[in-house]
Amino acid sequence: MSVSPLAPSWLQHPSDANALAASVWSQNSVRADSGEIEIAGLGASAIAARYGTPVYVVDEADVRDRARGIRASFDREFGRVGSSAKVYYAGKAFLSIQVAAWMIADGLNIDVCSGGELAVALAAGADPARLGLHGNNKSIAEIDRAVEVGLGAIVIDSLVEIERVADAASRHSRVQSVRLRVNSGVHAHTHEYLATAREDQKFGIPLADVADAVARIRSHASLDFLGLHSHIGSQIFETDGFAEAARRLFAVHVELLATGPVPELNLGGGFGIAYNSADVALPIDVLAANLADSVAQLAAEFGVPVPTIAIEPGRSIVGPSTTTLYTVGTIKDVLVSTSSTREEGSTREEGSTREEGLTREEGSTGGGDVRKYVSVDGGMSDNIRPALYAADYSVRIANRSSNADAALVRLAGKHCESGDIVVHADYLPSDVQPGDLVGVPATGAYGWAMASNYNYLGRAPVVAVRDGVARVIVRGETEEDLLSRDAGLEQN
Ligand SMILES: Cc1ncc(COP(=O)(O)O)c(C=O)c1O
Repeated sequence: MSVSPLAPSWLQHPSDANALAASVWSQNSVRADSGEIEIAGLGASAIAARYGTPVYVVDEADVRDRARGIRASFDREFGRVGSSAKVYYAGKAFLSIQVAAWMIADGLNIDVCSGGELAVALAAGADPARLGLHGNNKSIAEIDRAVEVGLGAIVIDSLVEIERVADAASRHSRVQSVRLRVNSGVHAHTHEYLATAREDQKFGIPLADVADAVARIRSHASLDFLGLHSHIGSQIFETDGFAEAARRLFAVHVELLATGPVPELNLGGGFGIAYNSADVALPIDVLAANLADSVAQLAAEFGVPVPTIAIEPGRSIVGPSTTTLYTVGTIKDVLVSTSSTREEGSTREEGSTREEGLTREEGSTGGGDVRKYVSVDGGMSDNIRPALYAADYSVRIANRSSNADAALVRLAGKHCESGDIVVHADYLPSDVQPGDLVGVPATGAYGWAMASNYNYLGRAPVVAVRDGVARVIVRGETEEDLLSRDAGLEQN
């Protein structure tokens, strides 16, 4: 066994570089006796042969179990404290007609944040009453359509939107239910949260201005005020940040109750998932129980009923369900000066707690060490998160297992950008070779959803697999698709 001095401190040398960490891989991903990875009963090689690579492979039972599990946990825990919960799937994480239909069938509502996402949810046959609309700059047309189709809730994000939504509701002779997004001053990420008087960000209305804003909402007969909304960040592993936001919102919620009904409180999404072996996600039933206890305690302190709680998880429902399969193209052993730090140009998700471990190249010999760059046929166009947030994923060879020693690798994409990295650091069998398939798990959230055509790569297909049967739920883009929007040469 050789531990690379280039390995970040959080990355353990694996006893078996073929093993699939249960915390990271979808529930029906296994290493079969043949040595290859099977996802929901279908081998990686068969999937790649049929759909090509890169391909996003969704373990359908996994995503649906998580959706039902979150709903059941929150129903149970808020029922326990004499209230109820509404779960909105945050469609921004990954929305397709099929995914929207699964969420609706599994009893969730859906949160959309653009006219396009609304169109997808409606195309799935979602009852508009089960949809919510977000956004700090919704267009008049988006607001109009949402009101016209009878959306269950619109989250008002600024004072000017109060009048815009009220006008649209009057025009359509409707009473539109609305929430008010609050800038609580709490920002959370992974294990830490920051609580300030006011967070420096574009979303929501400062707590101090909420009373006036709600008075304005209530002055419109065409609006029905549901309650306050807050979303404090992403990839959160602890409940403290949510509890602090709830505490701040609750004081205002109680003041508002003195002047009218406030039936709900929306605490947003952001529940963390494991992307690699170092991440430990808080189990959803623990999170739900903690939140129910916090909110019930606040209600008791203030002597008010426990409101109906709304939550908006995206990543924690769809993220762990999906694995991206790639084909290895080239491999280079690069001699790295161990005094160097990470490449420039990559920014990091605010508050990342592993920054130190990643930037420090430990165990420098003063000379250099070899980093194995394994390049695949996708990259930042199918998963921008490593480049955008310095997110750390993991990787395994998918078409075979190997007894070769584990070697530290960096999985690189094929784009013309040195920051085009899919996995900054993981161990693979050292005999990884061109033509191998590799699987990167936990790519279901903000992967396809943030995909691009950079370098004119077609977006990869999304394939759902259940009980050994695969089906394309979003087809991949062809060269024809890529050229179809180009207006071509001027016609004389
Ligand atoms: C308002 C709001 N709700 C919910 C979410 C979903 O967050 P996550 O996918 O991390 O659960 C987001 C993500 O950005 C958001 O902005």
